[in-house]
This record gives sequence, structure tokens and C-alpha cells, in this order.
Amino acid sequence: MKNIQWIKSPVDKDGAAFIFAKTFNTVKEVENAVVSISSVGVYKAVLGGQKIGNQILTPGYTSYDKRIQFNTYDITDKIKNENNLEITVAPGWAVGHLGYKKDCRNFYSDHVIAVAEIEITYTDGTCELINTDGTWSVYTSPVVYSDIYMGETFDATYEPEFLGTAVLDNFNTTLIPQEGEDIVEHERLAPVELIITPKGERVIDFGQNMTGYVEFNVKGKKGEKIVTTCAEVLDKDGNFYNANYRNAKNKITFILDGTQRRYKPEFSFQGFRYIRLEEYPDMPINLDDIRAIVVHSDIERTGYFECGYEKINQLYHNIIWGQKSNYLDVPTDCPQRDERLGWTGDTQVFCRTAALNFNVSKFFEKWLGDLRVDQREDGAILGVCPEWHTYEKGALYQTRISAAWGDAAVIVPWEIYRAYGDKNFLEKNFEMMKKWADFIHGSGPEEFLWIRAENEYHYGDWLGIDIDGGSDSCEGATSKNLISSVYFANAVDIVVKAGEELGKDVSEYRELYKKIFARFHEYFVEKIIKLICDPEHECEEEFRGKVHPNVTQTSLSLILYFKLYLPEEKEIIANKLEELIHAYGDRMTTGFVGTPYILHALTKSGKSDVAYTLLFQNKNPSWLYSVEKGATTMWEHWNGIKEDGSFWSDSMNSFNHYAYGAVGDWLYGTVAGISVCENGAGYKKIVLQPHPDKRLGFVNCTVDTVRGKVQSNWYYKCDKVYFEFTVPQGTEAKIVLPNGYTETVRGGKYMYIV
Ligand code: BGC
Repeated sequence: MKNIQWIKSPVDKDGAAFIFAKTFNTVKEVENAVVSISSVGVYKAVLGGQKIGNQILTPGYTSYDKRIQFNTYDITDKIKNENNLEITVAPGWAVGHLGYKKDCRNFYSDHVIAVAEIEITYTDGTCELINTDGTWSVYTSPVVYSDIYMGETFDATYEPEFLGTAVLDNFNTTLIPQEGEDIVEHERLAPVELIITPKGERVIDFGQNMTGYVEFNVKGKKGEKIVTTCAEVLDKDGNFYNANYRNAKNKITFILDGTQRRYKPEFSFQGFRYIRLEEYPDMPINLDDIRAIVVHSDIERTGYFECGYEKINQLYHNIIWGQKSNYLDVPTDCPQRDERLGWTGDTQVFCRTAALNFNVSKFFEKWLGDLRVDQREDGAILGVCPEWHTYEKGALYQTRISAAWGDAAVIVPWEIYRAYGDKNFLEKNFEMMKKWADFIHGSGPEEFLWIRAENEYHYGDWLGIDIDGGSDSCEGATSKNLISSVYFANAVDIVVKAGEELGKDVSEYRELYKKIFARFHEYFVEKIIKLICDPEHECEEEFRGKVHPNVTQTSLSLILYFKLYLPEEKEIIANKLEELIHAYGDRMTTGFVGTPYILHALTKSGKSDVAYTLLFQNKNPSWLYSVEKGATTMWEHWNGIKEDGSFWSDSMNSFNHYAYGAVGDWLYGTVAGISVCENGAGYKKIVLQPHPDKRLGFVNCTVDTVRGKVQSNWYYKCDKVYFEFTVPQGTEAKIVLPNGYTETVRGGKYMYIV
């Protein structure tokens, strides 16, 4: 944009959307015309009565005070001699409620602001620029209230009111061309059923938990209303339940004007499977007139996995829908309650699976841009990006600087590079990665470990269920110092690998890694080995008979996965991990940190049978437990709905949290066996090493990579396993079969029988 002039309404109406309008004429023949638009708030632009572009919720979600995207549209075909451009701006993320503290709003501004520039090139070579300025008119809009969390009120009977000419606003930020994927509408889901609940309420079930909104195609009488709220699940009696939305009301109101028309929210979205009709016009409810519209970033599907075990197919389906529901311009924790924030921990945990399911390179290009500007001067990365904080009684409240959360700064760039092989991308993020590793290096009292200082709070093995007090607490039993030290080692290791790919001198980090390894081994692993070998003798008094924070399923999985042991210790650690799993009824006790790694740790230790035992487990806690309970997306808690049908506390119980969906990467990478070699970023070199299991019957798996389709199918027939692989041209694949047969092949199709 050439001339940037922000404008606002001369009159403020809390929560309302305003229309900023400009009429302009073209006097000569137009060769080309584009308009660039942005807002503090979310906007919709209409030219000559027609919506411009098919995106919604533009300009997306960034740390608006640091950077805001603008969108540029080609409007050549829409330009007439006389034109009227109307930009409606609603509060959105920037002005409405944001964050999980009650009444937290106006994070970036207390009023909506717009900026636009129309650039017309005439056939005679001259150019005209029309910018937002004090000549633009401001009107009320039919969207009398809009808020991401609270919902929207649309009054079709409204008469536009001229509020005056626009007032200039000096909002200070950097405008950048749109970096991320467009946010667009996707599937339109028909209702499955209209339920009259035991309480007598009218509830519509769309059969799928999702993110988006509901559209009604109705007439009604002028002034009649449709009012809805929504829910992800029904309670054990079949009644509507939305207490887990906390302060997010998600209330949608349409005031009808008596004509046949389509009503849907335009500046808000909800996470739901069910809607409750709080009010409905005096007419029969025709389900054909109602559709749930799925909304997410326009990421392209690339991964497909199918097997002969229906419940695992449903788990995979839930993983896909967890991602669709939470990849809306930024990777969010959940789409429904008063959060929907870019939690860094959730993001890093899931990003490898995400990059298998969908092409997320552009999506992360943008979010990592957000992360780079949010990184503190000292290298720290907070729990949420785009950044969110608030003030409580005058004191600054921030999300934590925590291991496994801040580590998104190294893990996400590395994983995205690994998936797509683009060195520019790694180069762009390398400084941020180093700064994060350096930040950890300078933290806490120990140089080569990340030991928490007095005032440092980590999230730990979030939602792990092995802490004393059981499954209703938030933080698992695993030592936070152990977790953070493992992530310290991993961060430095990634900096080394990334530096090597880029041809940089990373000898300093290589040396640092060696020191971390040695100190970690001395401080944790040696003691763990002693504890494992002689628990009674070595265990400190306070942990006798309890879970020892250094010897948990999570701690052992981390040590195995990140190879922080000496060769002779591997078996001892793996056997202990297996013992802990059996001791807990062949189930996991792991939370956000341990769960993504436990199956990999077992497979890498030659215990894929134990890993499969966990995968097939259907009692709480397990992946299939939620499937048994009818889940259509991933749950935040293993036991969001408990065995007796009651809920985990309303205070934190999302049914659409993708983090535990990170097991998807084990389905692709181990069950089907498709993985990228360490030095084969972008599928230049891959390993095809399936781990067949008879209970699955067959597996069909493909990943559309930047080099073409990689396929791994296998099936059982007459006690033999048949393998079929497709390797794209330009790719080298190492095939490793369960009988030990190994060969390296190039592009083509390959079949084996074992
Ligand atoms: C979010 C999580 C997040 C966590 C931080 C929660 O409220 O929903 O997924 O990572 O806070 O521990």
C-alpha cells in the first residue's frame, strides 16, 4: 500500500460493526484496478453490491500492534463509471473479547479501524489512487453486535444511519501483504437430526464437531427472531451442555425482515456439533433450510490413511477434523471456549502430523512470521502467539515461558523444513531458533541444564494423569526440570541440524550439545538407572511408594526418543517404560509432553507390540476411549467424558483440541512406515518401514509430497503380508521390511511378500 491512512467512526457503538463507504467515478477507460484493504477488527468489502473475494474473517489474526496483513483484490471486472465501495468492520480478535480472563477485551484497540487503497490504472497509462481519509462516509450496519467469543446479532430490518464522515486514526503498526492462506468456507453439513431433549429443548445435531457457523434460509415474519447457542456434546441424559464454553456465549441472533433470505454470522465463528434453538419463528423447522458451514484456512489435503480397524479410522478422522477445526489463520488450542489462542505448545506437538495431513507450508510461513515478531529481545517465546496478555489489579499477567511451549520456535521451523525441504524457510527462521536456544542457555542456575529459577513456571507434562491426586489435576507428575532440560538439548540439537543444512558454522552449538548431554546424563539418567535397578535403596524418602518425578512414562519416553542415554542403558529404560505401562493396566499416564513420543520411544526400542497395545487400548486413558464415547474430534482430556458419563470440570474441557492427535504421525510414520530421512528434507530421501499388525488387517496410506505421491499399502493374506510401495521420481527410498530385508530404491512401484 502506498498511502496508509487509518480511519474510524465519528461515533462509537460498543460491539457494533460499522460501514466505511466511498463513492468514486472513473472518467477514462480502465485497464486494471485493485483494492487493498485491512482493518483493526475483521472486515468484509462490497463493491457495487457484490462481495469482494471469497475470504472471510479478513485480515486474519496477528499481533496487530506489530503487524497486520492487508488483502489485495483485483476489481477490474467490477469497476463501473460510478462505484460504491463499502467496508464493514466488526470487532473480531483485535477489539472484541480475547483471552481466558473474564471481560478481557479491546486488546489492541477499543474501536474498529479501517484502511483501504484503490489503485486504478487507465488505458492511457495514467494512474489514480483513492485512499481512506476524512471524506469517507460512516454508517451503522445490520451487524449490531459481533464478537468472536460472544456471537453475533444481525438485524435484517435495520435502516442504515449516517454517522458522519470518517475520523482519522493514528493506529501504529506495520502493514504486510497477506502471508497466510485464505480463510474460506468449506463443507456444508446437513443436520442429522432435530432432537427434543429430555428438558424439552429443540437441539439440532450436525453429526460432526466442527468450526464455523450455521446458515438459515428462511422467510418468517418481519421482526421474528432466530436465536441459537451451541454445544459440542450432550450430557449423559441427552440434554444440551455448554458449560465448557466458559465465558464464550456463542449466541447468534437473526432478526428477520419477512423476506426469503439466507442468514449466517459473518464476523464470528463457533466450535460446535449441536445448536439449541433458543427462539425460532412461528413456523415448522425445516432441516433442509439449515446448514452448518465449516470454516478454516484453505490448506490443501495431502495425507490419507485407512486401515481395516474401524475405530482407528474414526480416530484418524477425528485427527483430521481436529486440524480443520483449529487451523484458522493461526494454529489454535480449541475453537469454542474463551481461548482459541495460538498456544505454542499445542502447535509444536501437532505440527508434524499437520504437515502430513495437509500442506501447511504457507500457513506456517505466516504463523512463524507472527512468532518472530513476538519473540522477546532476550529470545524468550511466550505460551501464546499472537501474543496475549492482560493486567490484573495493575500487574501484568502473561502466559508462561515454558519448555515444550516456547520450543515451537525451533520445532515448528524444523518440522516444516523437514516436510517441504525449503531452505529459504529455514534461513528466515534461523535467528529466532538460535535466540530461543541461547535464551534457555542463559536461564536458571545451571549452565547445561534448564533448571527452573524461583519465579519460572512451566506447564510441564500438561494434563498428564500420574500426579498424586489423579486424573483431575492439570500437571502430570514428571519433573519439570527434566522436561525442560530435555527440550534444551533438543533445541540445541535442532539448531545444529538446521545450521548444517544451511552450511553455517554451528561448532559452538555442537560443543554445547555435548555438554548438555553429559550434564543431563549425570544429573538425571544415572540416578534414574539407579532408581530403576534398586528402587528401595535409592529412592528419596519423599517419593517412597509414590510416582517418582524422574521415573514416569513421560520422562522415560523423552529420554528414549531424544536419545539421551548411553547405549547400554537403552534396554533398562525401555523395559522400565514397558513395566510402567503394564502396571497401569496397559495404559498411558502421559500428558501433552509425553504422549506424542511414547509410541515412538517404544518402537525405537524394539517394542512396537507394546506401542500397538496402547493404540488398541480403549479404556480411559487411551486414544480409542474417546472414540468409544462417540467423539468426532480429538478431546483435550483423555476423559473429557468420564466412564459414568459425567464431565471433567467445566473449567477446562474442550472436545476439539488437536494435541493428542499427534499420534497421527505414528500412524503415517510407523504403521504405514512413511518417514523422511534425517538428511532428506522435502522427501528427497525417505524410509519406508511399515510395522504391520494383524488386527489392522490392511493399511492404505499416501502422502502427496512436494516430490509427488508416496504410497505405502500392506495387507494380510494367508498369513503372509503383502507390501506395495510407490516412490516418486527424484526420491530415494530405503525400504525396510519386518523380516529385516532392506534395499534402497528410486522412483517407481515396488511389491514384496513377507
Ligand atoms: C490450553 C492448552 C494450553 C494450555 C497451557 C490451556 O488453557 O487450552 O491447550 O496449551 O492452556 O497449558
